[in-house]
Amino acid sequence: MPASILFVCLGNICRSPLAEAAFRREAERVGLDVGLDSAGTAAWHAGKPPDERAIAAAHRNGIDIAHFRARQIAPEDFCQFDRIVALDADVLAELKRLRPPGSRAELSLLLDHVDGREGHGVSDPFYGGEEHFDRTWTDVVAGAKALAREMGAWN
Ligand code: 4NP
Repeated sequence: MPASILFVCLGNICRSPLAEAAFRREAERVGLDVGLDSAGTAAWHAGKPPDERAIAAAHRNGIDIAHFRARQIAPEDFCQFDRIVALDADVLAELKRLRPPGSRAELSLLLDHVDGREGHGVSDPFYGGEEHFDRTWTDVVAGAKALAREMGAWN
């Protein structure tokens, strides 16, 4: 069974779809076999495609995420995924609150995997502009590369 990772933000329309896309590209680049998905702690945008600014940011980097559909995290996710990676500290706190007793998923903050960025969140670009989405992309790529490197070292 390949390892599996769920990336989680608040709405699942900006940061976590970008994190999933960045990790998928990095995993392909380094030959890591991994199951990937993303979700939000909130249900507001369930069933919707990513924010068009997130779609555009991914597109600027050669990746199409228009087919992604948002969903809310569910209790089963804590049993089905090996790792659940939060995009910011509020999301991590909510994941700890939602985690069913005895669940197997290891929880972490994405930027905790990046040297020198420990404890930092990927800031929410929802109320920002295009440059904020580009910064989100830069952050999720840094997180994806660091996490993939760690996972490659374990395999
Ligand atoms: P995300 O961004 O958590 O990165 O998907 C947000 C998306 C929507 C909202 C907030 C953050 N919202 O308030 O609807």
